[in-house]
Amino acid sequence: MKEIKVLSVTSEIYPLIKTGGLADVAGALPAALASEGVRMRSLVPGYPAVISALTTATSIVRFADLFGGPARLLAGKSGDLDILALDAPHLYNRPGNPYLQRDGTDWPDNAQRFAALSFVAGWLGQGQVGRWRPDIVHAHDWQAALAPLYMKFGEKAHAKSVLTVHNLAFQGRFAAGLMQELQIPPSAFTVQGVEYYGDISFLKGGLQSADHITTVSPTYATEILSPAMGMGLDGVLNQRARDLSGILNGLDGVAWDTATDPYLPVRYKSNAVQNARRRNRQALQERLGLRPDPDAMVLGVISRLSEQKGLDLLLEILPQLLAENIQLALLGAGDAILQQGFARAAAAYPSAIGCAFNYDEPLAHLIQGGADAFLVPSRFEPCGLTQLAALRYGAVPIVSRVGGLADTIIDANPVALAAGVATGIQFGPTEAAPLMAAIRRAVTLWRDPKIWRKIQANGMATDVSWKRSAHLYAKLYADLINN
Ligand code: ADP
Ligand code: GLC
Repeated sequence: MKEIKVLSVTSEIYPLIKTGGLADVAGALPAALASEGVRMRSLVPGYPAVISALTTATSIVRFADLFGGPARLLAGKSGDLDILALDAPHLYNRPGNPYLQRDGTDWPDNAQRFAALSFVAGWLGQGQVGRWRPDIVHAHDWQAALAPLYMKFGEKAHAKSVLTVHNLAFQGRFAAGLMQELQIPPSAFTVQGVEYYGDISFLKGGLQSADHITTVSPTYATEILSPAMGMGLDGVLNQRARDLSGILNGLDGVAWDTATDPYLPVRYKSNAVQNARRRNRQALQERLGLRPDPDAMVLGVISRLSEQKGLDLLLEILPQLLAENIQLALLGAGDAILQQGFARAAAAYPSAIGCAFNYDEPLAHLIQGGADAFLVPSRFEPCGLTQLAALRYGAVPIVSRVGGLADTIIDANPVALAAGVATGIQFGPTEAAPLMAAIRRAVTLWRDPKIWRKIQANGMATDVSWKRSAHLYAKLYADLINN
């Protein structure tokens, strides 16, 4: 079989730059797809963290003026990643978060910054840069969504395009007055193109132009067709429903491996879990200043603090958790009001509520390796990666029944328990009372070690790797090329 050449276009990629799961996925796909006969190169903005991570770099093309300044495209390596870094200092050479200024508001030129990324991807997709020509341009989220549009409205024959929606809530909506500056052809400013209620919507433009659309779980692919979950784009998505599919994310097998994890005080294999996890739990309690109480169930959370993640509901039920002798180990950053709420609770009950409000990779691993249960109460969740790590590490997931959470966890209802297939606990709707009921259900199961260990073992035996999904992406690429 001939090798398939794919250009992945992404605004984040682990381990170079990450704000969320998009980076994990973009970082894991190239290796996962290599064994499927796919060679993936990743086009990313040349943020300082990206440029400094390149171990080799050759300039393959220069732009005298790319949306307001000179730029060049660097081809290089970082570890095993094959990177094309768009070195455009006027757009990307700034410290901190890729999307936000220090005060938490968007960079004022995000339209130019991410249109530039997509514009160069469009060029590559039309074979206009150097000799390398991709068969497929695979764009991720709104930041790359104009790439399929630039190709479709461009003049040259172009590669096939795939747009993956990791989160429909972020759409890249900007004033129509930017059309010319962003070099979007006027003919694209229609309902069938980039126009959205009189504005430009990057994501809509991509949804209308891509040859195929994927999202990151089958359930989310269905949910977004409904007005309730479609975030205003359900109409467009319904029109394109035939070209829309859901492919579940996997979990990186090197970064998340209990047998080799450098951040775990005690590493373990699936045949010797209990003792190791007990000691990791003690280390976690110590790390967050929690009471070393073996009778308290430790509930872990690792999350962006945002409306999506439903953690306001957790705040609401904290008093009830305390009454049940449940301890909380929370790692999260984001929304200031949520953060203040958890900080206040932790200050009032330091021995039961332990929080860290930063980005902390080692602590994330310690929580997965030590918490008894792991909570993801999202209002919507395209896929979710933390519940996959929880499954693999033996922290029993408690999740809302939405999106990828619904697809990856088997609820411990009486039938699933009797059949011996449960891997966690699900609840719905995403409201405080059902959430509390789910946690109570978890505590009851936790107090019965035989049942709990069975649920835990089922979770650890679940295949959360990229294997199956890598195959599905490879097949999708091949089908697009052959049609
Ligand atoms: P989303 O992309 O919506 O934030 P995911 O569950 O897909 O949600 O991915 C989140 C990723 O970010 C996971 O790899 C998770 O471990 C990581 N993560 C989230 N918050 C933190 C944090 N404060 N510190 C370290 N890792 C975090
Ligand atoms: C998004 C979603 C999350 C998903 C991640 C990677 O950030 O919120 O559910 O796992 O992208 O696809």
